[in-house]
Amino acid sequence: MRLGQGLSPFLLLLGGFATIQCQEFSWYAALGSRSKVVCKDPVTQEIYQFRDSWLRQREKELEYCRCVTNGIICHIVPGTACSRRQQCFNEGRCKQALYSSNFFICLCRPGFSGKRCEIDTKAKCYQGAGEGYMGTWNTTVSGAKCLNWKLDSLRNKRYNAYRADAARLGLGNHNYCRNPDSDTMPWCFVYKGNKYSFEFCSLPPCANKSHTCISGRGNNYRGPHNHTESGAACLRWDSQFLTGLVFNSHREDAEQLGLTSHNFCRNPDNSTQPWCHVLRGGKRKWEYCNVPACSTCGTRKYRQSQFRIKGGLYSYIQSHPWQAAIFVRIQGVEAYLCGGVLIHSCWVLSAAHCFVERFDTSRLKVVLGRTSRRNPEWSEQTFSVEKYVVHKSFVQSTFDNDIALLKLKSLYNECAMETDSVRPVCLPEPGLKLPDWTECEISGYGKHEEFSAFFSERLKEGHVRLYPDSQCTPKLLSNRTVTENMLCAGDTREIDDACKGDSGGPLVCLNNGQMNLLGIISWGVGCGKKGIPGVYTKGYKEKTRAQCVSTDPESH
Ligand SMILES: *[C@@H]1O[C@H](CO)[C@@H](O)[C@H](O)[C@H]1NC(C)=O
Ligand SMILES: *[C@@H]1O[C@H](CO)[C@@H](O)[C@H](O)[C@H]1NC(C)=O
Ligand SMILES: *[C@@H]1O[C@H](CO)[C@@H](O)[C@H](O)[C@H]1NC(C)=O
Ligand SMILES: *[C@@H]1O[C@H](CO)[C@@H](O)[C@H](O)[C@H]1NC(C)=O
Ligand SMILES: *[C@@H]1O[C@H](CO)[C@@H](O)[C@H](O)[C@H]1NC(C)=O
Repeated sequence: MRLGQGLSPFLLLLGGFATIQCQEFSWYAALGSRSKVVCKDPVTQEIYQFRDSWLRQREKELEYCRCVTNGIICHIVPGTACSRRQQCFNEGRCKQALYSSNFFICLCRPGFSGKRCEIDTKAKCYQGAGEGYMGTWNTTVSGAKCLNWKLDSLRNKRYNAYRADAARLGLGNHNYCRNPDSDTMPWCFVYKGNKYSFEFCSLPPCANKSHTCISGRGNNYRGPHNHTESGAACLRWDSQFLTGLVFNSHREDAEQLGLTSHNFCRNPDNSTQPWCHVLRGGKRKWEYCNVPACSTCGTRKYRQSQFRIKGGLYSYIQSHPWQAAIFVRIQGVEAYLCGGVLIHSCWVLSAAHCFVERFDTSRLKVVLGRTSRRNPEWSEQTFSVEKYVVHKSFVQSTFDNDIALLKLKSLYNECAMETDSVRPVCLPEPGLKLPDWTECEISGYGKHEEFSAFFSERLKEGHVRLYPDSQCTPKLLSNRTVTENMLCAGDTREIDDACKGDSGGPLVCLNNGQMNLLGIISWGVGCGKKGIPGVYTKGYKEKTRAQCVSTDPESH
């Protein structure tokens, strides 16, 4: 993988680096023929190459620094608040040099650090495989110290801070463990035995799902649930009442099966769910336990996209298994109508403006699990629509409350069957507020460009950031009305944006290892215009669905 490219001839120089630390500056100077200067800013611990320049905040002053042959020279410069283009994460405050907006720094709130305050200094463990880990652990399993991702000698590696997408992968001017390549856990480069190699880091995983809920039959459940469905207390697996039974803590493989000195529910025999022994009326019996099932919403097997096209990247449905395509039959011809989002086996959200023509449900069709917009695929599941409701406060002139809910038709209570290509997204916990500029994702089969006559033949994805409310205003959006039911998100690189035909599709953001639906693609001023975000409908609540289900509104 990332080590496949061989070692460059400069790599061995590091062994000959000398470090000189002074109060005001420090530098590493390479000995030998290639006189290479690398500076380390003692205030920020960041490293810089010869002739690099940067800003730093030192006590109350903003300083402009350069890396020169004999170290770092800095002088105080006037500062000002940043223009809109520069951004800090996690509510950091942005400051730029008065004379040049190319130079800016983020002043981070306590608990955060990094060039853009993207580093979470309080993160003590990693979730899942740690792809979203942004903490500061810098030691490997062998006890070695991690190398700074911006080290010149790592330039020829596949993963380093010089990549165009380094910020998104969490790679920067620091030596913290990261998992940019979807490996099994965070790792870093180390210098060992005259070689650069990678090692996994020694930081611990966060408390894990198999401790709180069950997946499948719960064979791997190792949590502390200790009573049965009937409310009876479980007997300990090492209890004398269980002597002579097949399953107790005296088995040779007891530890493997999770049957040790405790009374927690377990499923050592591939029963339908975890169980335990209980005493009832002085008699020993076994009973099932009601351990809650883990929700799989918002999880996926992400497949890296290869082709960038205008307005996004060609993608795979497995990366966005909640994406729905809604079709409508008009005069016998089936036409693509809008995107949608699967939020539950039988429920799909979309945009209200897609349904202003009040189509009869018999003309609608919802397709899940399809990468190509038009061509049937083996992985897809197709449904007719039982009914749909448009938000009762939808305003067509402003697109306020631009949300609609479709119920899929099924013979049983299940509609969509969960597969790697079809899975609901999670609805956010009430009150979930992600930091401004959080990077999120949009997907859809929409047009590549505003004036194109054609929809995309294939699912696309785009990466956009959440705008602060203060920057989601009519001023930015050709004076169009912006209501509290709308949120703005845009690609600050001005590459990705939603476009015609994406409407009704998802804006999803990672939270606690699962993708959460933050918005529904609603409207925009053109597509992907410089500095103009797209607008999304927010505020879908689980309550809304509950109401729709219980009041069973008339179908359209
Ligand atoms: C590792 O991180 C700690 C704090 O997070 C820091 O004090 C230490 O200097 C770092 N070590 C190296 C080698 O960068
Ligand atoms: C969760 O814990 C179980 C058992 O304790 C372990 O087998 C599994 O690998 C862990 N999973 C993750 C993602 O850490
Ligand atoms: C069940 O577990 C809880 C905490 O996990 C503990 O307080 C309680 O005493 C346990 N009950 C029995 C019967 O062991
Ligand atoms: C458990 O039982 C199910 C259903 O019979 C079966 O599909 C699965 O392979 C079994 N798992 C193990 C580990 O035996
Ligand atoms: C928005 O309104 C302001 C004030 O009425 C006006 O000056 C400006 O030209 C308008 N902008 C657009 C894009 O219509």
